Amino acid sequence: EVYLSGMLEDDPPEFPVSYEDLEEHAREELSEEAFAYVAGGAGSESTVTANDRAFDEWQIVPRIMRDVSDRDLSVELFDREYPSPVMLAPIGVQSIIHEDAELAVARAASDLEVPMICSSVSSYSIEEVGDELGESPGWFQLYWSSDRSVAASFLERAEEAGYEAVVVTLDTPKMGWRERDIELGYLPFLEAQGVKNYFEDPAFRDRLDGADPWENQEDAIASWQACFGDASLTWDDLEWLQDRTDLPVVIKGVLHPDDAREAVERGVDGLIVSNHGGRQVDGAIPALDALPDVVDAVDDATDDREVPILFDSGIRRGSDVVRAVALGADAVLLGRPYAYGLGIGGEDGVRAVLENLLADLDLTVGLSGCASLEEIDRSTIRRADR
Ligand code: FNR
Repeated sequence: EVYLSGMLEDDPPEFPVSYEDLEEHAREELSEEAFAYVAGGAGSESTVTANDRAFDEWQIVPRIMRDVSDRDLSVELFDREYPSPVMLAPIGVQSIIHEDAELAVARAASDLEVPMICSSVSSYSIEEVGDELGESPGWFQLYWSSDRSVAASFLERAEEAGYEAVVVTLDTPKMGWRERDIELGYLPFLEAQGVKNYFEDPAFRDRLDGADPWENQEDAIASWQACFGDASLTWDDLEWLQDRTDLPVVIKGVLHPDDAREAVERGVDGLIVSNHGGRQVDGAIPALDALPDVVDAVDDATDDREVPILFDSGIRRGSDVVRAVALGADAVLLGRPYAYGLGIGGEDGVRAVLENLLADLDLTVGLSGCASLEEIDRSTIRRADR
């Protein structure tokens, strides 16, 4: 369909197809601050670059003559079947990128049946995003507030609003050293947007002693900053969270195999191997390099792989998804590409990015000689010897 529309219509596609063009276009369209917010990483951004390069270290070895006329990209996670292994990564404060923000993303996601993970720091409330998703699957991402009443309130609201899993991001008890954001004054910028999901939360409002966060945004942002994360968390705190929700608990930000083992032993329901797109620890291991060891650790710690392993940080194209799946990921999260699509074209931009990725993935899986994700394994790839 993507090829045909290019052949039948004279016009080139409305939105850039390649990731590089998408990023370039976003650089031109977005304000300097908004582009820096999406593109930026921690420190020298060495990990942002390393994430991308890590994919070049693995090469697909395509097979031929293996009936791939019917391809099935579906995957089952927590008793629900999804049409493809692609989900939308949580991205906060999307009003910085586009005024329709998470609502536009939810519309595009539900059109294409791509599950969306809604951030705690969303610009629309998680209830509004949930309404927009309707029957389409949504997961809720929690930044575990140091104010336990706020964390508990978020969990309750997420369940009430129909989210199907909780993703707890554990690599961000505080935000990383993001030089571009610091130089461009991220916090005053954030203040202008507000963090609606917090501002509308009853437990967060209790912290403000009745003051209206929209009237006095400076104080509200200061209070948000004070309770945003909790740097004192240890594994022993996990039970508190598990006791407060009936939803599957998926932890995000796992890079070390020992952490993966500990998480599984503590009964987490799923893991996301991620370095937050290189936004937290400059010089951190590329997430793709961490994946095989985490997969082995989880396989050792469980009899039969009951704990799904998801992956993000560097997914740009269909071949990246194939490589992550070959290294043991059950599904992947797409981040910056859809944020750029949002910035360039709102809902239509996100839809175009997703359509292209899914078409590219479908072709790449088939051309690699696989008819389903089960057929993709470590024999599908090999390490590049240079
Ligand atoms: C993020 N990420 C993120 N993660 C999270 O758990 N909660 C959040 O609110 C955000 N916010 C956010 C904003 C922006 C602008 C970006 C780019 C990323 C991290 C995100 O979920 C994911 O881990 C990364 O985006 C993966 O890296 P790539 O593939 O986008 O480079």
